[in-house]
Amino acid sequence: MKERLTVLCGEIEPCDTFADVGCDHGFCMEYALRHGLCRYGIAADISEHALRTAERRLARFVNQGRCRLVVCDGLAAIPKDVDLVMIAGMGGDLICRILDKDFIPRRMILQPMTDARAVREYLLCHGCRIIRDKVFAADRIYDLISAERASEADSYSERELEFGRDNLRTYNPAFCAKLEKLMELQREYIKKSPKESVSESLRQRLLYLEEIYDGIRNGNIGDTRK
Ligand SMILES: C[S@@+](CC[C@H](N)C(=O)[O-])C[C@H]1O[C@@H](n2cnc3c(N)ncnc32)[C@H](O)[C@@H]1O
Repeated sequence: MKERLTVLCGEIEPCDTFADVGCDHGFCMEYALRHGLCRYGIAADISEHALRTAERRLARFVNQGRCRLVVCDGLAAIPKDVDLVMIAGMGGDLICRILDKDFIPRRMILQPMTDARAVREYLLCHGCRIIRDKVFAADRIYDLISAERASEADSYSERELEFGRDNLRTYNPAFCAKLEKLMELQREYIKKSPKESVSESLRQRLLYLEEIYDGIRNGNIGDTRK
């Protein structure tokens, strides 16, 4: 199994009903059923074509009555009392639109390919608590956000929204690699700009990234609330 999918599967906690929205190949659902992580699974995708691969992969579980496959847009055909929903491998804006269109599931595993900040903002503005929020390295660096509906929403600082709280509070080599890449890009922008037009905001951004990076490298990872 691909490294990214292995990490995603490792995030699935035992539950009664598990839905994988945008399941495509059906790997994660197969993993959950095979390892007894859920009693019942719903593998959903907007594309009938994509579901065909999942159908083959999950046939024996469907025959056992442990799983069904549905073609639907987002959560449209997912029961509201589902315990855990995975939405992975899509843009952050699409993940937010899916949550906004139907309902916010009790627990979620979200893996936005872009715009993790928008996902964090959406969750926090809609009364959710972010349980885990880390980047991980596979063939590239990905964000992984586990969240749940909560009675009291959490509030994040600017940098927590941008980078995720856990990445700032716990040493994570994948996050350091991400920062190194961002700093390198920023230095490139500055180098390529004609001297007189290097804007203050470019320099400020580099300083900001360096401050976070140095803090983490020096073990000064307590204060993330700026
Ligand atoms: C790149 S694949 C990711 C598959 C898998 N979740 C993963 O992480 O490897 C994205 C899948 O999401 C499906 N998809 C896109 N928009 C969707 C929507 N609104 N509702 C359900 N599925 C959607 C696509 O058809 C595709 O199969």
